[in-house]
Amino acid sequence: EIKAFAFDLDGVIADTARFHGQAWHQLADQVGTEWTPELADGLKGVGRMDSLEMILKAGGHENDYTLAEKEALATQKNDNYLRLVETLTPADILPGMQAFLDELKAQGYRLILASASKNAPKVLGYLKLSEYFEDIVDPAKLAHSKPAPDIYLQAAKQLGLQPNQVIGVEDAQAGIQAIKAAGELAIGIGDNLTDADVTFATTAEVSLAAIASQLS
Ligand code: BG6
Ligand code: MG
Repeated sequence: EIKAFAFDLDGVIADTARFHGQAWHQLADQVGTEWTPELADGLKGVGRMDSLEMILKAGGHENDYTLAEKEALATQKNDNYLRLVETLTPADILPGMQAFLDELKAQGYRLILASASKNAPKVLGYLKLSEYFEDIVDPAKLAHSKPAPDIYLQAAKQLGLQPNQVIGVEDAQAGIQAIKAAGELAIGIGDNLTDADVTFATTAEVSLAAIASQLS
């Protein structure tokens, strides 16, 4: 029986995937890696340093920087990202998401955040959604980032639940892979999320009834 929902943040609760994309695009231009839709898509859900490595690799630049230089590049991206998310307000919660979170709370489901972003607590604060989540997984404490199962396994563990009592909600392929590898049911929001158990084209369509009808 499902007791809890583990939520990704960027691209699921707010359209912050757009801001990550903007900040990475700027960095790709700077290091001389061509910014393509495939690269942009592949970065979704992937942690900060892994994202940087992917961008460097895509342009053949993986050996052009020292570790200290890479860390400086990642910091620079994050500073740019923070300047963009600072503008967020509750009006930036994706369509239907506040209603869905309200529905889950009303039905007694427990909520935990399973975002790869170290900025997630800050972003939840800007959106005024911190109160909805009883806990947040700290991505800095995990050995492997999405698509590895670590973050979703840790989410279940922090709630004291088994993976089969948790549903994960994601907008990116790496995230769906992480949920499935953890042995949890996966809700995918967006295109090309074929491995998800339940899929929706947009956040506006997500509800408990719509989920139940796809699972039956
Ligand atoms: C994920 C985003 O949620 O967090 C990625 O989808 C981002 O785009 C990753 O790179 C890490 O975020 P941060 O804020 O710690 O750099
Ligand atoms: Mg996401």
